Formats: sequence, structure tokens, C-alpha cells
Amino acid sequence: MNEEEIKDQICDVCHKMWQLGWVAANDGNVSVKLDEHTFLCTPTGISKSFITPEKLIKINEQGEILEVTGDYRPSSEIKMHLRVYQDRPDVQAVVHAHPPVATAFALAQMPLDSYSLIESAIVIGSIPITPYGTPSTNEVPDAIAPFLPEHDVLLLENHGALAVGADLVTAYYRMETLELVAKTTFHVRMLLNIGNKEEKEIPREKLERLFKMRKNYGVTGKHPGYKKYH
Ligand code: 13P
Repeated sequence: MNEEEIKDQICDVCHKMWQLGWVAANDGNVSVKLDEHTFLCTPTGISKSFITPEKLIKINEQGEILEVTGDYRPSSEIKMHLRVYQDRPDVQAVVHAHPPVATAFALAQMPLDSYSLIESAIVIGSIPITPYGTPSTNEVPDAIAPFLPEHDVLLLENHGALAVGADLVTAYYRMETLELVAKTTFHVRMLLNIGNKEEKEIPREKLERLFKMRKNYGVTGKHPGYKKYH
């Protein structure tokens, strides 16, 4: 993809996130790695519904502006994005949003680690909640860093979610999967509560088979294997 196509894809993802109700007002940010020293990112303080290609900012690995139109500034969460690229050379795109059901799990201190849904067991694995970090500070990258070697999807305590991928569509799809897992988990737990039943997780040996299928499906990125957080 050339740079123009990547910019169009960033705008498309921003618009989808707003239409899906994952971001309100100026929430959320997106970045893509063009090469080792060049990244595109969304500007701070703009609704993702209004993002257009000329508003995107080109920055280097320190977050310094290389190219910008007008007086837009890079996302206030750019340190979090840059830490992902620094620690995960396989990652080319980072998406941050506040999808409401997934974010509710982050607020309720309930990691999504129940291994009940086949799709998420294969693609994402368990989803931990990273410790609280004050937005825009180094606390956020420092909080996510210990989880990056094993996870492509994270819940951020009292905040929202982060998804990373080898390309932007992959990172965006992971955010979609996260929100669907959160919705499904919410519904199943309500039903179990009503029916006074226990959640039936996929047995360990069947899970191991699913994990091995990642290769057949061409799933990229990291997976925590069988890991629980509570
Ligand atoms: P920016 O507008 O600076 O990208 O911040 C939005 C956000 O979601 C902060 O968490």
C-alpha cells in the first residue's frame, strides 16, 4: 500500500470506530508504522468522525513532528503507541478506543480470560487489564509494557482498550473481536446468573488444539497460551 492508501485506511478505521460508538467526542487514536523512523498518527483533540487524510501527522520514533498541515498536534497518547512499536517490531499498527462493553470490564476490574468462545481463544487468548496510568504520561506505556510480549489486545484500567497488529486492518479486527467477546461474555454471565449455572470453558486439551490452529488460519501476532488473570 502506498502512503495515500494507508492514510485513507486510517480515516476509514477512525470513521468506523465512531460509527460503532467506540469513541465519543475526541476519544481514541490510531497510528501506523511506515518505516523504522516514520509513523502516521491521528491528531489530538479531533473527533474520529472528522478525521481526513490531511489532518494525519507524520512523526518519528521520538514523537517529533516530521510533516503536518496547519497546527494539529500528535495524539496525546502517542507515547503508548511508540512503546508498542519499540517493544514489538512485528507490529505495524496500533488502535486505541473506548468500546463501551469491553471498557466496562476494564472498569469492573474483570479481565476477559475465560476461554469460552472458540474464535477469541484462537485469535486473542486471554485479555488482561493493565495497571492504571495517567493519560498522556509515561505511566501508560510503562503499564502496558510487561504485557506486550504475550498480548495483542489489552484492557486499560479505568480507561479503555488497545489493539495492535501486523497491519491496520488486523489491529482494527482485534478491537472488533474484543468488543464482541465482551458483549458475549456479559450476556452469558447474565444468563448463567439467571439460570444459576456455571460457565463451561473449553477444556484444556481442546484449547491446545485450537492454539495450534492459529498457524492454519494464518493468525499473526502473539498469544498468551493458557493464561488466567484472576
Ligand atoms: P487524543 O485526542 O489526544 O488522541 O486522546 C484521545 C484519548 O482517547 C485519550 O485516551
